[in-house]
Amino acid sequence: MTDLVQQLSQLIAENLQAAPTATVDQLVERLKTDDRIIQINTGNAMAFQTVVEGGTANVGIHLHDFDDEKLNRVLKAFWQSLQPSGVPNNVPHSGVAKFIGREPELERLHTQLQQDSLVAISAVEGMGGVGKTELAIQYTQRYADVYPGGIAWLFAREFNMSAQVVGFAQSQLNLKIPEGLELPDQVAFCWRNWREGEVLLVLDDVVNYSRDVEPYLPPPASNRFKVVMTTRLTFGPPIQSLSLDVLSPEQSLELLTVLIGEARVQPELEIAQSLCAWLEHLPLGIELVGRYLLKRTDLSLATLLFRLQEKAKKRQAIRHDALQRDEATATSTARRGAEAAFELSWEELNTPGQHLGKLLSLFAPAPIPWYLAESVEQKYCENSEGSQEFDVEVFENARARLLDLHLLQLSQQQEKIYRLHSLIREFFRSKLEGEADETSNVTVS
Ligand SMILES: Nc1ncnc2c1ncn2[C@@H]1O[C@H](COP(=O)(O)OP(=O)(O)OP(=O)(O)O)[C@@H](O)[C@H]1O
Ligand SMILES: [Mg+2]
Repeated sequence: MTDLVQQLSQLIAENLQAAPTATVDQLVERLKTDDRIIQINTGNAMAFQTVVEGGTANVGIHLHDFDDEKLNRVLKAFWQSLQPSGVPNNVPHSGVAKFIGREPELERLHTQLQQDSLVAISAVEGMGGVGKTELAIQYTQRYADVYPGGIAWLFAREFNMSAQVVGFAQSQLNLKIPEGLELPDQVAFCWRNWREGEVLLVLDDVVNYSRDVEPYLPPPASNRFKVVMTTRLTFGPPIQSLSLDVLSPEQSLELLTVLIGEARVQPELEIAQSLCAWLEHLPLGIELVGRYLLKRTDLSLATLLFRLQEKAKKRQAIRHDALQRDEATATSTARRGAEAAFELSWEELNTPGQHLGKLLSLFAPAPIPWYLAESVEQKYCENSEGSQEFDVEVFENARARLLDLHLLQLSQQQEKIYRLHSLIREFFRSKLEGEADETSNVTVS
C-alpha cells in the first residue's frame, strides 16, 4: 500500500513538474487520464490493485522542488475522486490486474438495466470461468453513481437471498426492522423502506431462479430496483440475457501478458499463443495458468504446454496443478480452479446428460456434427450389455441440458454442429478416466 502511495506521489510529482500552475482539480483530471495508471478499482475497493505501470517511485529524490502540501492535496483529492460517492455497497473486491475487453457487454448491460418498465432483470449467462462475476463487479464499479440507493451483492448459490437482503438493509442502510416479523415480511419491509434512488441488486451465480430468487424480488412495479444475475443457466423472456463468450485470441494473450509480463511472453510468443488457444481463451484458464507460471519463474511456456498436452493424453489435464486454484495465496475473483468450477455444473446434470458429456469428449477436438454423435450412441446402445434401446428423445433432452448449462455450444444451427470447449472436454474426459466404461476405449474422429 505504501508502495502504491509512493508510486502515485511520484506520478503526481511528475504532473506537477509538467504543469506547475495547474489547480488541484486540473491535476486530478490529468492523473485520471495518465496512461501509466493501468487500472484503478473503485466501488468497494479500498486499495488500488495495480496502479503504476513500469518505473519506480523515487519520492524524495525528485521531489525537493515541489510544493509538498499541494502534492498532498492532489493525492487526497485523487483518492476521493475514486470513491463511489457514498453509495452503500458490499461488492466484493476484484482480483484482476487489468480488466480486458468487454466494453460492448458493459454498455449493453447498462442499457438493459436502465429500462423503465417493471423491475429490469438481466442475466449475464455463460460457462464457468468465462468472466460473469468479473463483469458484474466491473459494472458496479463503473456505474456506482447511477445507484445512489445502494448496490447489494447477494451470493445466490451459497446463501438464502432473503436473509442477505435483510442483512444488507440493516448493516449498510441502517434500517431498523420491526421485531416479530417473519423473514418474508422483513424482506417486504426492506423493499418498502429502502433508501431513496435507484438500487442495484446483483445475484451472483444463480442456480435456481424460481426457488431462490423469484419469491424474494422487489414488487414488480418498483422500477427503481434493477437486478442483474450471473448464471450458468440459460434464461428466456421476460429476463433479458447477455450471453458472455470467451475472450478473443488477442485479448487472452493480453491477459496472459498482464499476468506474467512481456519479458516472458515475447521470447515465446508463438507458444504463448498456442497456450492461450489450448485453453480456448477462457479467462479462468488463462488466469490460473498465468498465476501458476508467475510462481515458477524458471518454467518455460513451452514446457508447461508440453506437460499439459501429455496429461491430456492420459485424460488428466484438468487435474494439472496449473489449472488448480492455489488456496493459500489466491487473490483472484475466481473462487475455484477449473475442475472444481466445472464440477458444479456436472452435479446439475442427470445421468443421460453426464453420459452424453463423456461420449462427446471422445470426439476429436473439432466441431461435432450431431448425426455422428447419434450414430455413436446407437452403436453404444447396441453393444452395451443386454443391448439398450436408443431413445432419441432422452438423447436430445440430454443435449438440451448441456446447452442450458453452457457445457456445450451450438456451432452451426442448420447443420446441427456442436462444440465443446477444450477445458470442458478435458473435464468430461477425466470423468471417463478410471471408469469401467466400454466407451472409454473408443476414439471418434
Ligand atoms: N475480462 C477479463 N479481464 C481480466 N480477467 C478476467 C476477465 N474476465 C474474467 N477474468 C478473470 O477470470 C476469472 C474467472 O472469472 P469469473 O470468476 O468472473 O468467472 P464466472 O463466469 O463468474 O465463473 P463461475 O461460473 O465459475 O462463477 C476471474 O479470476 C476473473 O478475474
Ligand atoms: Mg461467477
